[in-house]
Amino acid sequence: MVEFREVSVAFHQNKKTVEAVKNVSLKIEKGDIFGIVGGSGAGKSTLLRTINLLQPVTGGDVLVGGRSIVGYKGEKLRELRKGVGMIFQHFNLAENKTVEQNIAFVLKTAGWKKVDIQKRVRELLEFVKLSDKADVYPSKLSGGQKQRVAIARALANHTDILLCDEPTSALDAETTASVLDLLREVNQKLGVTIIMITHELDVVKSICNRTAVMADGEVVETGNVYEVFTNPQHPFTQQLIGHTQHFEIPQEIQSSISGPVVKLTYLGERAAEAVLSQTAADYNVRYNILHGKIEYIGTKPLGILYVNITGDRSDVEQTIQKLAERTYRTEVVFHA
Ligand SMILES: Nc1ncnc2c1ncn2[C@@H]1O[C@H](COP(=O)(O)OP(=O)(O)O)[C@@H](O)[C@H]1O
Ligand SMILES: [Mg+2]
Repeated sequence: MVEFREVSVAFHQNKKTVEAVKNVSLKIEKGDIFGIVGGSGAGKSTLLRTINLLQPVTGGDVLVGGRSIVGYKGEKLRELRKGVGMIFQHFNLAENKTVEQNIAFVLKTAGWKKVDIQKRVRELLEFVKLSDKADVYPSKLSGGQKQRVAIARALANHTDILLCDEPTSALDAETTASVLDLLREVNQKLGVTIIMITHELDVVKSICNRTAVMADGEVVETGNVYEVFTNPQHPFTQQLIGHTQHFEIPQEIQSSISGPVVKLTYLGERAAEAVLSQTAADYNVRYNILHGKIEYIGTKPLGILYVNITGDRSDVEQTIQKLAERTYRTEVVFHA
């Protein structure tokens, strides 16, 4: 659907060159909700904007629907942009136009007839559940409602690719969830391929099927979201994900325990229980659970448990070996 082939973008400013995107190759398939994650300044927005040529490339090629678009101008460029919608962190609605006029505007520009525009706008407002807001100005809407209007507008031309640049970064958690639900519907019901940039890992975990991690202009890791979150390969990704899966053992606990503290990562909701009770019986060790949580990647659970193990030294060692065999990952994170 979208393919980057060794794409580079360099900016020249005051005799300095910023290589915002460096040699990125990436394939986004039809039907994906593809998340591009990374810190601020990593080059995410620059890369995304090459897809609709808001940003020209300085090297490499960008293919949309199998065709190279980097040289598009005039009519070809207009056609491309009809098929590729975009939404932004700050919505970018025209404040002097009503909700209806904001959406109708892009259809008018695309040469639609008046009756068709009316019908299409009604249909879109129904889809984003804002039929009652047609005549309202953006200033009267909440952030979530504004983003829904922006989504309707971006889809107006029967768009098949939707680019999202930090679409939920200005929204609170509850509104974020409802906008993500809508994007999921856009993907599933309308078959729109979504490419989303975010610095929020939770967003990627919640709706993306595939992801690419960017650092300093480069894609350092790419893959299926569950794979990347359960088994990050690149140190940058490990650090990024580590933050959300990390637990700092409180000082009082550190000084009061003996034996190792082990971090267990396991797939499935109850996968840890069986192995803990079994090893406790087999090796005569005791477990003290310090911290535990289950997070969901899409609908798949990923469990994390911090346990302190006490018992005879060789029993504890054998236990850790057994845990390593029976869990997804076992790491000794502290030893008293
Ligand atoms: N129009 C521009 N002119 C000069 N430098 C730019 C421009 N746009 C982005 N940059 C620089 O390119 C790098 C990547 O920016 P950006 O793509 O916005 O990152 P991200 O979206 O990951 O935060 C940054 O160092 C930024 O300052
Ligand atoms: Mg950005």
